[in-house]
Amino acid sequence: MKDKLKKLKENFQKDFVKISDLENLNNLEINYLGRKAGQLTNILRGLKDLSVEEKKEVGQLANQIKNEIIEKIEEAKNNFSGQSMVGEIDVTLPGIPVACGHLHLVTQAIREITDIFEGIGFGVRRYPEVEWDYYAFEALNMPPDHPARDEWETFFIDNKPVGPKGQRVLTPHTSSGQVREMEKGKLPIRMMNISKCYRRQIDVSHAPMFHQFEGLLIDENVTIAHLKGTLDFFAKQFFGPERKARIRPFHFKFTEPSFEVDISCGLCGGKGCKMCKAGWLELGGAGMVHPNVLKAGGLDPKKYSGFAFGWGVERTYMMKAGLSIPDIRMLYQNDLRFLNQF
Ligand code: PHE
Repeated sequence: MKDKLKKLKENFQKDFVKISDLENLNNLEINYLGRKAGQLTNILRGLKDLSVEEKKEVGQLANQIKNEIIEKIEEAKNNFSGQSMVGEIDVTLPGIPVACGHLHLVTQAIREITDIFEGIGFGVRRYPEVEWDYYAFEALNMPPDHPARDEWETFFIDNKPVGPKGQRVLTPHTSSGQVREMEKGKLPIRMMNISKCYRRQIDVSHAPMFHQFEGLLIDENVTIAHLKGTLDFFAKQFFGPERKARIRPFHFKFTEPSFEVDISCGLCGGKGCKMCKAGWLELGGAGMVHPNVLKAGGLDPKKYSGFAFGWGVERTYMMKAGLSIPDIRMLYQNDLRFLNQF
């Protein structure tokens, strides 16, 4: 029995030096001292078969070994206690940065553009995206079947033609807000209508859903000079103080005269480069509101006149120097690797 105890002590010492973590240590403790099948426990169970003399002697030795083992294990537990700190918090570690989003490029553009026009008294509006044919075309001097409508590549809503305002369409341009604004009957009008528009076009420079912003000003004695002044103001505010606007004759059914608006190129400063056409970049349409449109809006063309312009938000924003997006559709694919850059 004594030999067994001595052997056990030796084995314990050998096993003990191999211990490298808390889990091993716990297993070692169970192996030697475990109540059910611990090696020392088993030996102690045999004590009852010994004579009184032997019991005393062996019992003392066993207790002594047991205490030594307990002491070693407890001491080791303290040493390993660092390991049990897994899950505790080191308050001095730098925190995990919280991902912080920002506004979508188009929303940024819309805010920037509205800010500029609000500064000169234009009130921001938003008119229906599902619109009557009447406001999108007819009231804009484009009667049913007029070929000029083809320009707008319209989505028609598939239902019966409804009432005097015709069929429903996904509004193909923000000009549909012109007559709606006039119908309110509050003059003078200084409207900035920014809205989603839809056209059946999809390629690198067209998305079937895009945004336009439309300025409309109506009052007595409004002239082309007011239009030109407003365009120049916008060009300088939005693109930079060195940029200029110019107007070229064009044709729209709802303006007379009509223009295309160009902005001087920011890359070559107007000299002409591969990014522009002889120093100018095309922005979009504008013109003096056609008398028939004024009439459709219930206004007397002899008393009132006005100007309108309407451009794509995405295109206008991309024209800002330094921003060249190879495919306009990327704006709507929600790929954060792309969007995070702006
Ligand atoms: N609505 C026209 C377009 O979509 C632009 C425009 C607006 C032209 C206002 C003249 C006046 O192309």
